[in-house]
Amino acid sequence: MSDAYLAAIAVRRSNYAITNKSSVPDEKLEAIVKKAVLHSPTSFNIQSSRAVLVTGAANTKLWNLIAASNSKGLEGEAKVAAEAKTAHFAGGYGSVLFFEDQAVIEAITAKIPVYTKQFPVWSTNAAGILHANVWTAFTLEGLGATLQHNGAYSDELVADIQKAFGLPSTWTSTAILPFGDPAAPPAEKSFGPIEERVKVFKA
Ligand SMILES: Cc1cc2nc3c(=O)[nH]c(=O)nc-3n(C[C@H](O)[C@H](O)[C@H](O)COP(=O)(O)O)c2cc1C
Repeated sequence: MSDAYLAAIAVRRSNYAITNKSSVPDEKLEAIVKKAVLHSPTSFNIQSSRAVLVTGAANTKLWNLIAASNSKGLEGEAKVAAEAKTAHFAGGYGSVLFFEDQAVIEAITAKIPVYTKQFPVWSTNAAGILHANVWTAFTLEGLGATLQHNGAYSDELVADIQKAFGLPSTWTSTAILPFGDPAAPPAEKSFGPIEERVKVFKA
């Protein structure tokens, strides 16, 4: 029964070779993101994870903001490299932005203060589960995608993104998944011995 799921997670890869096309219609992309947000678990079922799907001109707007932020203060080769990186993702079809709503984290922390230290950790764990679910679903649809944390998304950039898309200021960025139809398969991936990473003890 788990074979299909395990085969799906093995298909998910980082594919940087994305185009500005999508063979998957926007409605289907939206349905995938909604289902992934709905079914990805959160601690105490607080449902703190948020996602924003941008395509077309909205995607260009996003990556222009990131480009401006990432190349700020840079000069020469460093500026050229930063600009090339953002231009690459701007050349994709769309992006999914992931956030955690800090208002939800604060509310649950006030309710159960004994877990004050754990809630932020569990929030990022929940974010990671959601990232993987959308990333895997998009890959199964034949899209190429990567998980990006460009320049760790400065507070200033996140504020610019919140303003540009009318998002609450309590939504803090956890990652961005730029995607598009793939121009090439993902690069080869190597794996260390699984025996060193998984231990099994029997009675
Ligand atoms: C939590 C996390 C953060 C990552 N951040 C980035 C990133 O900022 N930029 C990037 O290009 N790849 C990023 N990656 C992708 C990893 O480098 C990639 O998943 C890893 O090398 C394995 O390759 P695969 O995705 O093809 O299986 C991240 C992956 C994870 C799980």
